[in-house]
Amino acid sequence: MGLRIILGLSFGAATAIWAQAPPAKDSSPFAGSNSCRPCHPAQALQFYRNPHFKSTVAANLPPEDTGCEGCHGAGKKHIAAGGGKATIGRAFSLLEPAQVLDTCLRCHSKDVNRTNIRRSSHTQANVVCTSCHSVHTPQSPKALLAKKQPDTCYGCHNEVRAQFAQPFKHRVNEGFMSCSDCHNPHGGNSAVSKTGHRPRMIEAGLQNEQPCMKCHTDKRGPFLFEHAATRVDGCEICHSPHGSMNTRLLKRPVVFTVCLECHNGAGSFGRQSDGVPTQSASHNMADPRYRNCTTCHVRIHGSNSDRTFLR
Ligand code: HEC
Ligand code: HEC
Ligand code: HEC
Ligand code: HEC
Ligand code: HEC
Ligand code: HEC
Ligand code: HEC
Ligand code: HEC
Ligand code: HEC
Ligand code: HEC
Repeated sequence: MGLRIILGLSFGAATAIWAQAPPAKDSSPFAGSNSCRPCHPAQALQFYRNPHFKSTVAANLPPEDTGCEGCHGAGKKHIAAGGGKATIGRAFSLLEPAQVLDTCLRCHSKDVNRTNIRRSSHTQANVVCTSCHSVHTPQSPKALLAKKQPDTCYGCHNEVRAQFAQPFKHRVNEGFMSCSDCHNPHGGNSAVSKTGHRPRMIEAGLQNEQPCMKCHTDKRGPFLFEHAATRVDGCEICHSPHGSMNTRLLKRPVVFTVCLECHNGAGSFGRQSDGVPTQSASHNMADPRYRNCTTCHVRIHGSNSDRTFLR
């Protein structure tokens, strides 16, 4: 067997001498990948570049986990019939989304967390593996994506493209980071926010922290004096994570309007039932100087030395 593998690889896959799984017993419904080639040259000739090709050279796998039939199921009947969708074990064009998911998860439940993906909003909306991945014609060799990120995502989330084209933005379109730096398209771990708003498939980092901390490590804390807004509500209560018309990706054009959403004396504004202090009387809001709150409250994300974040 070893010799056959070496031969297979060293002649190069283009010459297409594939190592064979041990010959299937006559009674086996499996035919082996080589037998698919004459009729499906397009898929077969590309296959040596596919990470799934590995299974054809690993002699120890059962036929249902090997090569073409690892995904498409047994093929002998299909060949005997000279083709046909109904004759092959799994014709993806006939599968329901849930069956596609099960087919791929059979082998990928280590890379893709089963529980998370099943309850993700993608799965709930019938967006499954083959909506983003293309086994036979991937445009990105990494992770077999049907299109490069972020185009894989923009195909369905066109409105997000515009958000990343705003004057202030994370540079996703420029290729400095990816959607998957913040989101897990396979479904996030669990709620990041403690206030119970929907997690948006945000990829939680260590100890369930927001993904933002991976890069903005100085915002991680823990701080002696936390700003409850950051810790409880999360970064996106003040920032638009994709992009914004406003500097610092702020949700509002002027800083004080961000602050007054909570520090408005209303007492109960929905998120925290009460306990949000208003500015003390020393704050003369008629004086423009006071409107730029963060010129004084410079440690707005949390401080180790001052409970009002002045330093
Ligand atoms: C004798 C020729 C022949 C051989 C050998 C053959 N196929 Fe096919 N196959 C066909 C034809 C013809 C079709 C088109 C059926 C149609 O579109 O109705 C087809 C269709 C398919 C489809 C498409 C189903 C879909 O979703 O539309 C898959 C998958 C497939 N074959 C897999 C295989 C695999 C795997 C093997 C090897 C185990 C194999 N075929 C061997 C002739 C063949
Ligand atoms: C990792 C799973 C997987 C493996 C391995 C695999 N396929 Fe496919 N195949 C698919 C999926 C999924 C589709 C449906 C098209 C899509 O979503 O990209 C497909 C579609 C097809 C089709 C229909 C035409 C098309 O491109 O849509 C044929 C024919 C086919 N495969 C043949 C093969 C052959 C031959 C092999 C082995 C050389 C093979 N497949 C290996 C998953 C696989
Ligand atoms: C909404 C789009 C989308 C769906 C649906 C999806 N994936 Fe992915 N997948 C991606 C993206 C994007 C990456 C690349 C992530 C990265 O670059 O870190 C990826 C990466 C992967 C990887 C590489 C390892 C990893 O986790 O980074 C595997 C394996 C994988 N996906 C399998 C699957 C399987 C199996 C399914 C279905 C059960 C599936 N994917 C559904 C978008 C998707
Ligand atoms: C028979 C088992 C099996 C099935 C079924 C299977 N895969 Fe895979 N897949 C593998 C193996 C093995 C690898 C290679 C992993 C490695 O390189 O370590 C792989 C690799 C991948 C990768 C590349 C991961 C990377 O890190 O770049 C993606 C994406 C992927 N599979 C998606 C799918 C999708 C989508 C399906 C369903 C259409 C599927 N797989 C079905 C076994 C399988
Ligand atoms: C810097 C981190 C980050 C990046 C990069 C990122 N997102 Fe987001 N995204 C978020 C956060 C945080 C939310 C939740 C916002 C909220 O709940 O207010 C979100 C929300 C979403 C939503 C739900 C929107 C809504 O209004 O409900 C979609 C869809 C989305 N992102 C898609 C994408 C796509 C597609 C990409 C890549 C092109 C991407 N995101 C890149 C952090 C990010
Ligand atoms: C085939 C279409 C399709 C593709 C491709 C796709 N999505 Fe989605 N996405 C959806 C649908 C449908 C929903 C659910 C509708 C909703 O809740 O707004 C959704 C929801 C989301 C959400 C919101 C989750 C929530 O809980 O509200 C995020 C974030 C997201 N997608 C990110 C991505 C990223 C990142 C990619 C690329 C890796 C991607 N999507 C690719 C169709 C798609
Ligand atoms: C993958 C790394 C990475 C992640 C994850 C990330 N950021 Fe960023 N962020 C950056 C970089 C790099 C910049 C600098 C802007 C640029 O790219 O030009 C930036 C800029 C910013 C800015 C504007 C800073 C300024 O000076 O104008 C804010 C606000 C911000 N990020 C908030 C967030 C939030 C909130 C999250 C989580 C939802 C997040 N970031 C996730 C890398 C990241
Ligand atoms: C209570 C509102 C609020 C919350 C919550 C918040 N920020 Fe900010 N953030 C601001 C304001 C206001 C500024 C602008 C400060 C200035 O003008 O100097 C800012 C500036 C920034 C900057 C750029 C300047 C700097 O300090 O590096 C980054 C990066 C940033 N925030 C990241 C984050 C991250 C990551 C989170 C979540 C951990 C977060 N912010 C949560 C209000 C907030
Ligand atoms: C999402 C609501 C929210 C937003 C927006 C917000 N805060 Fe806060 N802030 C709080 C809460 C809640 C506390 C904690 C009150 C407590 O610990 O009793 C707090 C505490 C403070 C404190 C410390 C008060 C004390 O006496 O301990 C200061 C100063 C402060 N915020 C300033 C700001 C500024 C400046 C902004 C705008 C950049 C801002 N906050 C935006 C909710 C918010
Ligand atoms: C010129 C500097 C300056 C500006 C600008 C400023 N503050 Fe303050 N703020 C302070 C100082 C000093 C304290 C602590 C002493 C005090 O309470 O007067 C404070 C305290 C606070 C407190 C805590 C009050 C308490 O009773 O615990 C809040 C809340 C607050 N500021 C919010 C804001 C908001 C919101 C803005 C913007 C509309 C703002 N501040 C602008 C200097 C400033």
